[in-house]
Amino acid sequence: MIREAASQGAVLLRNEGGMLPFTPADKVAVFGRCQIDYYKSGTGSGGSIHVPFSVNLADGFETLRRENFPMPEIDGAVLGAYREWLSSHPFDNGDGGWASEPWHQEEMPVSDGMARDAASRSTKAVFVVGRTAGEDKDNKPEPGSYYLTETERSSIASLCRAFPAVAVVMNVSNVIDTSWIDDDEFLGKIKAVLYSWQGGMQGGQACADILCGKATPSGRLTDTIAYSLDDYPSTRNFGSGDDEIYAEDIFVGYRHFVTFAPEKVMFPFGFGLSYTTFSQEVRGSSCRGGEISVTVEVRNTGNVRGADVVQVYAECPQGLLGKSAKSLCAFAKTKELGPGERETVEISFPMRSIASYDDSGVSGFPHSFVLERGTYRFFLGTDCLHLTPISLAFKVPGTTAVELLSEACAPEIPFRRVRPGASSDGGTFELSFEDVPVRTTDIARRISAGIPEELSRAGRSIAFGDVVSGKATAEELVAEFSDEELLTIVRGEGMMSRKVTPGIASAFGGISESLHSRGIPAVGCADGPSGIRMDNDEEATLIPIGTLLACTWNVPLVEELYGFVGGEMKEKGVDVLLGPGCNIHRSPLNGRNFEYFSEDPLVSGKMAAAVCRGLSRSGALATVKHFALNNQESHRRTENSVVSERALREIYLRPFEIAVKEGNARAVMSAYNSVNGRKAASNYELCTSILKKEWGFAGIVMTDWWAAMNDCVSGGVATGRLLSQMIRAGNDVYMVVPNDSADRGGFGDDMEKSMAEGTLTRAEIQRCASAIIRFVSWTNAAKKPLRPLRDEIVVEDALDSAPEGARTFSLGEVAEGDALLGDMYFVAPEDARYDFSGEYVKDGKDTLSQSVSNVFINGRPCGSFECRSTGGIVVNALAAQVAMKKGVYKVRLVHTKPGITVMSLTMNADKFSPITMGLFE
Ligand code: BGC
Repeated sequence: MIREAASQGAVLLRNEGGMLPFTPADKVAVFGRCQIDYYKSGTGSGGSIHVPFSVNLADGFETLRRENFPMPEIDGAVLGAYREWLSSHPFDNGDGGWASEPWHQEEMPVSDGMARDAASRSTKAVFVVGRTAGEDKDNKPEPGSYYLTETERSSIASLCRAFPAVAVVMNVSNVIDTSWIDDDEFLGKIKAVLYSWQGGMQGGQACADILCGKATPSGRLTDTIAYSLDDYPSTRNFGSGDDEIYAEDIFVGYRHFVTFAPEKVMFPFGFGLSYTTFSQEVRGSSCRGGEISVTVEVRNTGNVRGADVVQVYAECPQGLLGKSAKSLCAFAKTKELGPGERETVEISFPMRSIASYDDSGVSGFPHSFVLERGTYRFFLGTDCLHLTPISLAFKVPGTTAVELLSEACAPEIPFRRVRPGASSDGGTFELSFEDVPVRTTDIARRISAGIPEELSRAGRSIAFGDVVSGKATAEELVAEFSDEELLTIVRGEGMMSRKVTPGIASAFGGISESLHSRGIPAVGCADGPSGIRMDNDEEATLIPIGTLLACTWNVPLVEELYGFVGGEMKEKGVDVLLGPGCNIHRSPLNGRNFEYFSEDPLVSGKMAAAVCRGLSRSGALATVKHFALNNQESHRRTENSVVSERALREIYLRPFEIAVKEGNARAVMSAYNSVNGRKAASNYELCTSILKKEWGFAGIVMTDWWAAMNDCVSGGVATGRLLSQMIRAGNDVYMVVPNDSADRGGFGDDMEKSMAEGTLTRAEIQRCASAIIRFVSWTNAAKKPLRPLRDEIVVEDALDSAPEGARTFSLGEVAEGDALLGDMYFVAPEDARYDFSGEYVKDGKDTLSQSVSNVFINGRPCGSFECRSTGGIVVNALAAQVAMKKGVYKVRLVHTKPGITVMSLTMNADKFSPITMGLFE
């Protein structure tokens, strides 16, 4: 299924002169190191899944041959030359540390001589361009990132001089500069371009399948590829650590290009070629009860099997608000059709989905979704620029509100935003600007009006099981909680908590003795989104990146795929996946675009909803992240996104809204950044007014890891201690405090003090606690017998003695220095439980970076030093607690993610004294 998905999301952008697919008559030489070092995913939390195997492009060809697929001849000499060169130029992972992997790898220079030599044996050449990207580091407008390196350019130019035809494979995480394919130095020889993205464990296989014609490409772009980076409207306001003005407003991605500058588009949103051809005929359309339906007959008019995508675009009257000249309003993918085969596709969508949010009141309906008076037209498109009108137009005689709402999260900093000006003949508009409406409401009043009453006790004894069985409500259970229990339950712990599946990002819920004794299980959350990340080297399946999945335009396939991931989660005892990510691709430079789906909110939302539904098939739960506007990785913790209410509603919040309403999302992760001056994690209007009240979201909001909050009313300075503001805003869980510290004050946050001072009420914490209990009752953890608070780790296979000359350590002795680098031998004097604790440090200012040192005892992962960077401060931590029989044990520290320096390790008789570390800000 991964192979299938990875091939369905690959987008063929050019295919001239029968270049692809290769036939058995072809002789093909494949260049570029990434045919071997094929990127399977991006980096950071979303790309750190430990895979059992992965298939690169070279192996992909081999597999096809073994499957007896009719294959071209692949030039073994070229492949051999790459293998040899790679033996002295190994993959540079930047030492494997957090955000340290470079975004490209040094290439073997291909000289004219080498190219000519290969061309004497082969007739076609392929060059694989590889790029990765990831968390905490954006792409840069420089060679090796957004642009080709000199070596890549000169190598491809050599191939173009030697071969009659060259295909380029883009094994990339983000859109990168593609305009070069038409540069003079390539002599018009680049006949095929395939964006194969990063396809997970089977990415190279899927790419080989497409190149050789085992699979017919059916992917379509979910982002615009413009000629120049400067053509993207966000480029001017991207990447600073301060106020980031979203001046382009709703004109993000193709909305900008179709409205103002179609000539700047190299490959449009929605575009993608196939090896076959299709016809699409509208067989019927209607507009009834606010719902528009279109029936389209798709026919494969070519000679090979293939699938097509039906895209419906709307053209709304410009009215007083101004609109995108066209916007996608529905889509569907056909099944694979044989030559001559037809499929009738029926798609429908509510009028509400093409309504506009009026944030100024100019339509007469302030802060509401409106359909402005005028004629609405619809089109079938092979992409956003190639459209055929559907004979369905309807007139709205007078502007109507389809949903009456109220102001929320409006900007406070005035700025000018883009809007369409005068129209030209071709249906485009001049760029014009207007003042953005700013906040008029009193946030303090809104918050105090929403403060709940304290819960009263039911007067009977209630256990968590009663909530699960429906005999009691979450509120009734929470009413029984002591203050300490209330404060504990809103703190999640991690990373690598010993109370859940080892190696994952967090545990929350029943993580203290007292909450656990009420029958509340600890719930385990793992990254996400492309599989289960376990940082103790435990393996899991890696599926393709979000961008590739979106490019399949195949919602049922994505649901199916996540059904599989959910099954694996259930098997491994992971309750919650920290994904999907559905931030908008505002700029091609965002390092984390690979985790997200598209520049379009509808595609993003439909895909996110499919992920939620897929996971829930086996009871696993999704976390839709990062709410909201985490659209850049540089300065992600300090950046303040300054955005109009309209762009927020129509573009950036829309995917989350769809995931909640159509995917029944039960968890949302707030972002690190601020949105209009309030940190996302203490943003009352985002978390409560919009998400919970307006959308009816009944689940939990968790913070991103070690997030900071500021004052929900006045904004200002942010710190990770302001949990009072988080609670007040309706962000239910703080992720994460150090393991075993949730019932001991966590990081030393301000909740207790605020309660005492009356600036936080018990009732507000109860409200969050109730949401958490309800959520826990929905998890797979609640459906199983309660497991012990900490699984006892037992290592029984004691060695008789340490090898000759090895250093041994006995109770209380400290292993440090060189001893920590290799195998250490610890002597357990009797059968007992032992603590392994020590000191560690992680340098560097980025306190969000993650590094892990695992403690292996007799080859078995038994615990780890926590994952978070300490910002240079030496920290004491309990790494593992293990029951051992009397004897000698081999202990080894393994840096699954380097960066940490462990300075000492001591084995003591079990004292279980968790050590709370400070908050590094
Ligand atoms: C990321 C989240 C991730 C979390 C846990 C953070 O750095 O922003 O997306 O889920 O770490 O790994």
